[in-house]
Amino acid sequence: MIKVVGIGPGSKEYILPIAKKEIENAKILVGGKRALADFSNENQITFPITKDIDGAIEFIKKNTDDVVVMVSGDPGYYSLLDKIIKNFPKDKIIVIPGISSLQVAFARLNLPWHHAKLLSFHGRIPKDDEMIFEENKILGMLTDNLYNSKKIAEVLLNFGWKKNTNFTVFERLSYEDEKVTNTTLEEAKNSAPISCGVIIVYNEV
Ligand SMILES: C[S@@+](CC[C@H](N)C(=O)[O-])C[C@H]1O[C@@H](n2cnc3c(N)ncnc32)[C@H](O)[C@@H]1O
Repeated sequence: MIKVVGIGPGSKEYILPIAKKEIENAKILVGGKRALADFSNENQITFPITKDIDGAIEFIKKNTDDVVVMVSGDPGYYSLLDKIIKNFPKDKIIVIPGISSLQVAFARLNLPWHHAKLLSFHGRIPKDDEMIFEENKILGMLTDNLYNSKKIAEVLLNFGWKKNTNFTVFERLSYEDEKVTNTTLEEAKNSAPISCGVIIVYNEV
């Protein structure tokens, strides 16, 4: 089986016990370099996921009987699972959920996320109608180097969001050096960019 295991936002405190068990018992472990450094043991064959995603899929193809693939956060939200379900039959795949970085960010603000629009700017751009301003709309977003805090603030202001809308940027969620920056759309547009984190855009309820 190919087990796709969510490891949560990064800190070992945020990984589910069942995910930890699957990872510990894996004979063959695939994952990002940081995840392999944190979670692999000396008895395992490991394969690092790099930018060469097709290389990782080829490696998994050679080991479909017994391989554990670690992905950050939850596998169901923008992870290698997208590619895995396109390349392997469904009955060969088992998904173990993890805590998404977005869930942790909403928790930090004590904010329910059932009404939030979740978007990813990580290597993609959401559709215009997903970004457009609407009264009481809450956005939860993944970011990357290109679409960082500054760029996203510019984009949202162009889509009709008001300058004083709350704009909170989360870096290194769950780690000891986690950083939370509470600002507004206008301030974020005029400040140094923050890359590869989570941003929540909301008005006080
Ligand atoms: C490929 S996506 C993976 C999302 C993941 N499946 C999830 O549920 O969180 C990578 C993006 O997730 C976000 N991310 C993952 N871990 C994070 C963390 N510890 N702190 C802040 N953002 C994080 C960043 O936006 C990063 O660019």
